[in-house]
Amino acid sequence: MDGERIRKRLKDHIKMFNYKISPEQEEEIITLYELNHDEYDENILSLYIEKFLQTVANNPDPIWKEQRRPTVYAKSVSSDSFQLPFFPKTPETTEFLISRLGTDIPFCLLSEEQKYSLINSMHPMEVEADTELIKEGDVGEEMYVVEDGAFEVLVNGKLTNRLYGGAVFGELALLHGIPRTATVRALKKSKVWSAEQTSFSCIRLRNQIYKMNLAREAICENAYLKSILLTKEDIQKVLNTSSSVFVTANSSYDLNDDEVAIVLGNAKIIDESEREVHPKDLITVSFYSDTNLECLVLNIKEFKYR
Ligand code: CMP
Repeated sequence: MDGERIRKRLKDHIKMFNYKISPEQEEEIITLYELNHDEYDENILSLYIEKFLQTVANNPDPIWKEQRRPTVYAKSVSSDSFQLPFFPKTPETTEFLISRLGTDIPFCLLSEEQKYSLINSMHPMEVEADTELIKEGDVGEEMYVVEDGAFEVLVNGKLTNRLYGGAVFGELALLHGIPRTATVRALKKSKVWSAEQTSFSCIRLRNQIYKMNLAREAICENAYLKSILLTKEDIQKVLNTSSSVFVTANSSYDLNDDEVAIVLGNAKIIDESEREVHPKDLITVSFYSDTNLECLVLNIKEFKYR
């Protein structure tokens, strides 16, 4: 994904419509767009800008809609001021939802706080038998966790699977920005918990920003990286081309000579010795991990010999 190109088009778009967006908000929109799309598309990017502003303003008729008027300012907000919906839950429900969302990608990549934010934002829904909760090909706006009931999954009209209590569905379209991959229909009266796409994206975005900030701190605190990444631009360049990697428990990850990994969680690994690693630690050679481990792999080829 060409981050520079997006950044430039974003700036042009903002200028054209006279939006007032802070540099952090620009970064957030770009990150959100990159998370969901592999290619640049002007219309989708415009939608992202508008959706982002709607979300941050949390206002059905936000003032930023009055475009082309230099005196009108969008509400000044950062990712911290996203207003997530809040639906109180019993401790049992929270525990149930944590157990369902805690283990699978992408949810296991969220911090505890982010998981709880997502769960707090979920609302209950009663679904009558035969209701098509999701239709194949539609745009995805919610994901669901089944508390009780039964659903069938149909692809091209053919029964592909059945889902029962504890199942999570409807996450694919939200995660990848693609149309719904299947139709999901209730086989009987069921109860589900639903999370909105905006909450889901907002939490993922926060997570992305959290990880980037953590990586930035790690670079500044590490003597080696500090000695080769001399300016803010160097750091940004390396972060823009970094890749987020999830190493599953009991597996190896090969780092080539031009790569280093910044650890984003706690894990037990074997590289040159057996050791425990923590957020912001650096791994410089291929390693084996005993536990699930998320890290950010940086390519430092351009910087290491200068
Ligand atoms: P999404 O594509 O957003 O909407 C339809 C959902 O059905 C999809 O996310 C998955 O959560 C779920 N789904 C798709 N295919 C299958 C399958 N073969 N088995 C179980 N669930 C599926």
